[in-house]
Amino acid sequence: MIAAQLLAYYFTELKDDQVKKIDKYLYSMRLSDETLLDIMTRFRQEMQNGLSRDFNPTATVKMLPTFVRSIPDGSEKGDFIALDLGGSYFRILRVKVSHEKRQTVQMETEIYDTPEDYMHGSGTRLFDHVAECLGDFMEKREIKDKKLPVGFTFSFPCRQSKLDEGYLITWTKRFKASGVEGADVVQLLNKAIRKRGEFDLDIVAVVNDTVGTMMTCAYEDPNCEIGLIVGTGSNACYMEEMRNIEMVEGDQGRMCVNMEWGAFGDNGCLDDIRTIYDKAVDDFSLNSGKQRYEKMISGMYLGEIVRNILIDFTKRGFLFRGQISEALKTRSIFETKFLSQIESDRLALLQVRTILQQLGLDSTCDDSIIVKTVCGAVSRRAAQLCGAGMAAVVDKIRENRGLEHLDITVGVDGTLYKLHPHFSKVMHQTVKDLAPKCDVTFLLSEDGSGKGAALITAVGCRLRDAEHN
Ligand code: BGC
Repeated sequence: MIAAQLLAYYFTELKDDQVKKIDKYLYSMRLSDETLLDIMTRFRQEMQNGLSRDFNPTATVKMLPTFVRSIPDGSEKGDFIALDLGGSYFRILRVKVSHEKRQTVQMETEIYDTPEDYMHGSGTRLFDHVAECLGDFMEKREIKDKKLPVGFTFSFPCRQSKLDEGYLITWTKRFKASGVEGADVVQLLNKAIRKRGEFDLDIVAVVNDTVGTMMTCAYEDPNCEIGLIVGTGSNACYMEEMRNIEMVEGDQGRMCVNMEWGAFGDNGCLDDIRTIYDKAVDDFSLNSGKQRYEKMISGMYLGEIVRNILIDFTKRGFLFRGQISEALKTRSIFETKFLSQIESDRLALLQVRTILQQLGLDSTCDDSIIVKTVCGAVSRRAAQLCGAGMAAVVDKIRENRGLEHLDITVGVDGTLYKLHPHFSKVMHQTVKDLAPKCDVTFLLSEDGSGKGAALITAVGCRLRDAEHN
């Protein structure tokens, strides 16, 4: 037998034996079509609660008004700074939108480090760091004397009553700086800038990354009225009818709602599908009990779910000769990029083994097959859950507009969505199955949410000028 045949034979052998055995334990990670439909229905209910004035205070999916009332109309222009804090990187951008012949967008980006002790220290220190990086960025471009308008992409749940304020409700993901929850992040940033006394900026808009992504994609495709992030964290936004947003006065037109969908399940409504592995990941997270849906979907947590399953399987003697190594005990060893590599179809089993060995996991070929199977089950469930949420959103928009059929585009960003070999396909299929009356196009946002933040800032400036004249 030649090597490939041998491997195929070997794989079948293992499938019949060990994979069947572990299948029993992975069963809890599999979601039937009925369950997915049920999750979609629950999701719709939670959206409804968040939108209602009576239920919003206790709702888990907060459905936060953003005061962004339209997608770009092509008339936006100017010179802007965009700050992007809360995603995989902390970035500062200069975005120039001009109108020579046709509208063009020019961008310069710089990525800055945000060490963990800044994310977990005092809020003052974190915002001083942001102001310092801003100083560096402006110095290099010799623009310290310009009071440029700023769009602040702050990727956390914020309560807004206008475009240029954002009261942080709660930190999520890797952040936990003290003294920021309950405060207006615009005021905190302004204070840090004033303290430096070397430059002045005009913060015009606080923008969630989902909203920035929707705006960036809407610039290319006016049908884009939904934004989705599947990266370190997960969340979505969409254009909702004003008449349905009871938390804001007025019934005319639409407003973008930052759903904060990561908190779906925080009231226990997903408890029947959460597994012991999900609970373990939640218990050891920075925000235990919160963001339960996000913890089943996004890049920061999927690797941890995998690691918990592997520990369990090792204890049961299915893996790594029953030996729990130091590497397996290490939190966060399975980053999104490793999951994506392990699940790649192009990778031969021996290469999976090499990756595991690089991670310090001394594995046999049998181990590699099991690890790959576990990764597949976890990422598939994540994509299906994400699809169930998205199906609920598109179907609600269709009903809002009284349409038999809806054509809509979703602007998407995030490392997991972009890097994983199967996530997007499974998610798209789930949306198709659960919302058959909607034709959904997914558009990748190529340049993050910086451009979108600048476009929102441009509108903000125009509205401000109109108010003053
Ligand atoms: C935050 C959202 C954000 C999402 C994606 C979540 O943890 O709560 O505001 O949009 O991550 O970055």
